[in-house]
Amino acid sequence: MVSVPENIKAIHSYEPGQTVEELQQQYKWDKYAVLWNNENTLGASKLALQSIKKELENSNFYPDPKARILCEKIATKWEVKSDNIVLGNGSEGLLMNIIRAFCRDGDELLTSEGSFVIIYNWARVNNVMCRSVPLRDDYSFDLNGILKSIHRQTKIIYLSNVNNPTGAMISCSELEDFLNKVPKEILVIVDEAYFEFSKHLNPAFPDSSKLKMDNVITIRTFSKAYGIAGNRLGFAIASEKIINTLYKVRLTFEPSNLSQAAGLGALDDNEFLSHTLKNNSRGLHHYYSEFESLGIKYVQSHGNFVMIVLPSPEQAQRVTQELLVKGVLVRHLGGTLSHCIRISVGQPEENQLCTAMLREITTAIS
Ligand SMILES: Cc1ncc(COP(=O)(O)O)c(C=O)c1O
Repeated sequence: MVSVPENIKAIHSYEPGQTVEELQQQYKWDKYAVLWNNENTLGASKLALQSIKKELENSNFYPDPKARILCEKIATKWEVKSDNIVLGNGSEGLLMNIIRAFCRDGDELLTSEGSFVIIYNWARVNNVMCRSVPLRDDYSFDLNGILKSIHRQTKIIYLSNVNNPTGAMISCSELEDFLNKVPKEILVIVDEAYFEFSKHLNPAFPDSSKLKMDNVITIRTFSKAYGIAGNRLGFAIASEKIINTLYKVRLTFEPSNLSQAAGLGALDDNEFLSHTLKNNSRGLHHYYSEFESLGIKYVQSHGNFVMIVLPSPEQAQRVTQELLVKGVLVRHLGGTLSHCIRISVGQPEENQLCTAMLREITTAIS
């Protein structure tokens, strides 16, 4: 029998659950809303789709391993040098590569509880201990608590700004103060997967790529505001030294030529981006006013989703299940947030379906 390392044995594979099609067959909804993955429900940018179609003809060729054209375009847009950029198979691919590139057995990744679940998993896969500091009572990160928890083994600190799933943000001054206090030999990942939404909702939202600190790596994705999650395209911005190290561990030809083409098209589509951002602000306001009228607690969000807080894990479970039966797919959270549900912002009719169904079942909440 081929042995499996203990750290891999301990991992539970991702269980995707039933597909939307299977659920539709089971529940026979007239209408439904998929609000469980923080995707862009407006669809994909048309320019991204056109660009993919054009690139299809080149499917027999390997893509440019350095994706120079796309890196240049990203560099221009975010005012950095293309040598400070590396692309990945989604930002998740980049997170995996960062841990692989910088950690040895015995190193530790320090983060917060109630953050992006994937990070805990990729730490374990790489035999890296993951330590998490509890969230504060208002569901924001306890940055002082994280600073106090740094010790000899801490190699990476992971901050999701905004945090998925709470939607809470770290302000500019909090981030700068934190980064100035972190020892320079610790790599800090600032995951800004929802950056475009955050900046639109709050122009003072911090852009960690502008800080130009040698031990900070900024992560962004095309999966959310640009609407091409299925194409798996993310990028990191950091010092040349960090970027060159990441090039050593990545797959030679990631991301694919279609993903690169999708990214090029998406970056040209300002109209789609602007529509997405406006739809998101309106959607969040719709949620807030409906939740307030229903007496449902929520955390103010700086992303394309909002977390509601129920009195108990059982009620959160029950509300999620009842919404599912009524065609509204939302995410019941786990761990220390098992009394909470994360709801993505969809199109206006999807948001309305969600709040109308919540209204029908409010008796289950109160
Ligand atoms: C905070 C955060 N980081 C990274 C990701 C992964 O995004 P990608 O599709 O680029 O892998 C997500 C996806 O939900 C996320 O919420």
